[in-house]
Amino acid sequence: MKGIILVGGMGTRLRPLTWDTPKSLVPVLNKPFLEYVLRHLKKHGVDEVILALSNLASPIQECFGDGHDLEMKISYVVEKSALGTGGAIKNAAGDLSGDSFLVLNGDIFSDFDYTDMLKFHRQHRSSATIALTPVDDPTLYGLIETTDSLRVTRFLEKPKAQEVTTNLINAGAYILEPDLLDIIPSETEYSVERQLFPSMLKAGSSVYAFPSSGYWIDIGSPEKYSRLNFDLLCGNVASYGFQNNCDIIVGYNSQIHPTARLEGPVLLGENCVVGSNVTIKGPTVIGSRCRIEEEAFVSTSVIWQGVTVGRGCRFVSGIAADDCALQQGCEIEQAVLGNNVTILKNYKLASGTKVEPRQTIG
Ligand code: GTP
Repeated sequence: MKGIILVGGMGTRLRPLTWDTPKSLVPVLNKPFLEYVLRHLKKHGVDEVILALSNLASPIQECFGDGHDLEMKISYVVEKSALGTGGAIKNAAGDLSGDSFLVLNGDIFSDFDYTDMLKFHRQHRSSATIALTPVDDPTLYGLIETTDSLRVTRFLEKPKAQEVTTNLINAGAYILEPDLLDIIPSETEYSVERQLFPSMLKAGSSVYAFPSSGYWIDIGSPEKYSRLNFDLLCGNVASYGFQNNCDIIVGYNSQIHPTARLEGPVLLGENCVVGSNVTIKGPTVIGSRCRIEEEAFVSTSVIWQGVTVGRGCRFVSGIAADDCALQQGCEIEQAVLGNNVTILKNYKLASGTKVEPRQTIG
């Protein structure tokens, strides 16, 4: 089975991280997010993938090239202007030859069994099979109701609390039959969730739901992006190999002063320097080339590459993108800092602040 991954969205909710980094390239445990998705697809035999691009296309193409490093075949289709989820599929699916194909929203991380899902799709002679996942609060997602035999009967996008009849939502992974492409208009903005699937139900087409109980998260917001990093680091996603939730993993050529205290789980990238009397409390991920200077305190955070946390700073429950500089004595809690942000000496940033790339604050 071939796959199409939709990675052309604006990533609005994940700003300021996604102003100049596509959502699919935000680092998760210091590797691009999409690399996990691609490796998982490969495990299920999907080794030929088309990436449907629009916003910030070239960094994605440069990162994955033709897929050789992952032993996959990756190609790219770039939209002139964003076509929405359905329009993007139509645009990308040009040379898919006659077989069922997998479509993924490019911002979901899951350990779904796509091999089983394809079996299910074929057994039910389905035109479209939609993966379902349970969530605590379905009001933020697209809710899907089915019969006992899992045939879809209703879609409800972002339902009100009183409309919620199930906790199963559209997980953003579909297997589709190629003749559905005829329904989607060419070069027109069109939504799979709001237009294609509801119109199929109206026409009586067979749309089935494939429930999954595996790990699933969409990294649409900073909170969920951090949560994925922490879940992987804490060993909460069994299929991804981190089993020991108090590990301290230190990258090549990083130096940690003997008086620094690291409480796992902590992942420290390559070529970092951690100064004297620093405390780093996990779960925390720190990218390569970072300097955490003496007496600094860092806890429950995700820090990208080339970041300096100055002497005596407190950085708690935050995200700092590439090349941020937090000068001596800053206090920062629950903040999200875009690339290249500078926080001046001794500045206390209001809790929950989001700072656009390249700003100097203080
Ligand atoms: P928000 O702006 O925060 O809603 O993020 P988003 O638009 O990136 O994500 P959304 O959840 O709306 O979309 C789900 C997936 O579809 C994401 O992986 C997007 O990258 C992708 N996507 C959304 N719109 C388009 C589009 O017009 N073209 C392409 N190629 N992909 C899209």
